[in-house]
Amino acid sequence: KPPRHLLSISNLTPTELSTLVNNATRHRSLGINNFPLSPLANALSHKNIALIFSKRSSRTRVSTESAVVALGGHPMFLGSGDIQLNVNESLYDTSRVISSMTSGMVARVGPHSDIVGLAKDSTVPVINALCDTHHPMQIIADFATLTQSYATTAEGLKGLKIAWVGDANNVLFDMCIGARKLGIEMAVATPSGYELPAAIKAEIDQAGEGKLSETTSPLEAVKDADVIVTDTWVSMGQEEESQKRMKAFAGYQVTEEMARKGGAKKDWRFMHCMPRHPEEVSDEVFYGGRSLVFPEAENRLWSAISVLEGFVVNGGDIKKTIV
Ligand code: CP
Ligand code: NVA
Repeated sequence: KPPRHLLSISNLTPTELSTLVNNATRHRSLGINNFPLSPLANALSHKNIALIFSKRSSRTRVSTESAVVALGGHPMFLGSGDIQLNVNESLYDTSRVISSMTSGMVARVGPHSDIVGLAKDSTVPVINALCDTHHPMQIIADFATLTQSYATTAEGLKGLKIAWVGDANNVLFDMCIGARKLGIEMAVATPSGYELPAAIKAEIDQAGEGKLSETTSPLEAVKDADVIVTDTWVSMGQEEESQKRMKAFAGYQVTEEMARKGGAKKDWRFMHCMPRHPEEVSDEVFYGGRSLVFPEAENRLWSAISVLEGFVVNGGDIKKTIV
């Protein structure tokens, strides 16, 4: 039987997405110091998980390494300077070889086709740790963070309104797909020329019915929003466009004033996947009382445990965890 992979939020049914989000919160209830008491503490004992990173990472690397250790396994970090991939060796050869010696691959790549290529011939589950169009582990953590603030389970997030102000990127794409699955409303403000690409919109539509509005006006997007989210204006790999982007995104910095003028809900909260640059959000918002950014970052650990449990320990059978 071929392994089941997590390449984007599209790979999950609404129930599976909710289960992964809820399991992340259940794992969190134990806390990392008590995790050895979890029934899963030895679930990956004597198993190697390859962590293939072709781009930088703080949160994804630390959370997945820590998650593998929490489950009793061995994380094998393979940076782009360490392995032959893309220098002396093809994706196909790399995938065949690494999957023959490990129990799972977590990979951060450039184009989405690279993660698809890695998964295609792998004999073990492949988990996308970010590519240019998707970041599923981030979105599971984001919905876990919202669950912990607004509801008791992911199902309780139905009807919430998220405003995204900034670039239409990998994080937004998977957030929109996930929002459709959970019944969350999305309002997206991007400068003209930086809208959601047609192919991604089609993928979002395939994820289900739901409200998604697009505008070039941040004030319009944040109206009645429960949550305002942004991300860097210059994603990894776009560094050469930096100056052009700074100009295009002028006026898109998330601030208290923007939310007030636009009419966001009084108790709106702020999220950002990090790493954060000062231009996309003011210090007042990022470090202020509304900000969920640090719990959001910590939830990367609990989500990584949840994803490894579902895809590696349970072979893609996503079910409620026992804590
Ligand atoms: N949010 C996130 O994926 O951060 P890193 O790039 O540091 O992993
Ligand atoms: N959109 C950002 C997310 C980083 C976690 C990037 O791709 O660089």
